[in-house]
Amino acid sequence: MTPAPEGYARGFTLAPMAGFTDSAFRTIARRHGATAVVTEMVSVQGLSRRNSGSCRLLAFREEEKPIGVQLYGAEPEAFERAASIVSRMGFDFIDINAGCPVRKVLASRSGAALLRDIPRLLDVVSATSAGAGGLPVTLKIRLGWDPENPVPDDIGALAASRGASALCVHGRFRSDMFDGPVRTAGITAIAGASPIPVVANGDSTSPSAALRMRDETGASGLLIGRGAIGRPWFFRELAGLGSIQPAAGEFRETVMEHLRLSMLDVPAPFVFHMFRGQLVRYLKGFKGAASLRSLAVGVESESDVAGVLEEASKIMETA
Ligand SMILES: Cc1cc2nc3c(=O)[nH]c(=O)nc-3n(C[C@H](O)[C@H](O)[C@H](O)COP(=O)(O)O)c2cc1C
Repeated sequence: MTPAPEGYARGFTLAPMAGFTDSAFRTIARRHGATAVVTEMVSVQGLSRRNSGSCRLLAFREEEKPIGVQLYGAEPEAFERAASIVSRMGFDFIDINAGCPVRKVLASRSGAALLRDIPRLLDVVSATSAGAGGLPVTLKIRLGWDPENPVPDDIGALAASRGASALCVHGRFRSDMFDGPVRTAGITAIAGASPIPVVANGDSTSPSAALRMRDETGASGLLIGRGAIGRPWFFRELAGLGSIQPAAGEFRETVMEHLRLSMLDVPAPFVFHMFRGQLVRYLKGFKGAASLRSLAVGVESESDVAGVLEEASKIMETA
């Protein structure tokens, strides 16, 4: 088994989030202190069929490294084929999604559905390792399907015996979806029994809360999701390199940098439509957010975005 990159196993990784963590956002996160990133989830079936949507998700920049590619699916053989395809693309590790609770994904027996069938989950780990050509394989799970059906506490040892080199635990059950406080005791039990590094995930609303969760659970690393959307400065505070609160000029520069990276990847006018979702998140929590938001959801050009940021900066400077 090849060890997982240190930046993932013992660092602060940007969580995979479909619809948000594209190459541009991952690059911004790395520039602000994230020590590793993971792609949005990619279907093993789509990859095998060279589906254009799945292939588009595989583009990344060198500066994002270390980067993991996340695969989701149901059948071990499909994971092996997909692992063999992505293992030649320059990624640093392959991550298996066994946590997605979205109905469409569960209907195809993928994502968190794997938590209901531990033998199949472990076969998926073996198959992915077999196809990975020596790349590290990591597994992202939840605490179980529901509180009556938790994963075994020794899931780390079981996954390691099939070739996994790190385990990420989102401290919720599938039945919790994304709500409610994270169940840190569940992460602690799994981390305490695991021979491979455990990365804790869930509810990292602030850098201090995230660090507390890592220390309380005995996890070695952290995976940060929603807390970092619109707040890439989250990572520099985690790393002790600065504050989560940017200065006004810095705020404007970072959002424009994010937009320009997106413009290199996505053709106009689609890029502006796509960027609206990110922009709204950057403006969340601002005084006067409602009026800024209505401007943000209508942006159609780089100068529109600059105009919204100009308004936002005025608010920041007077705050
Ligand atoms: C919009 C959105 C998309 C997500 N997409 C993925 C995904 O593609 N793969 C995955 O493993 N988890 C996905 N997740 C779950 C996150 O990676 C993470 O486990 C979850 O949000 C809990 O962490 P947080 O509380 O820090 O956000 C997604 C979550 C959100 C909110």
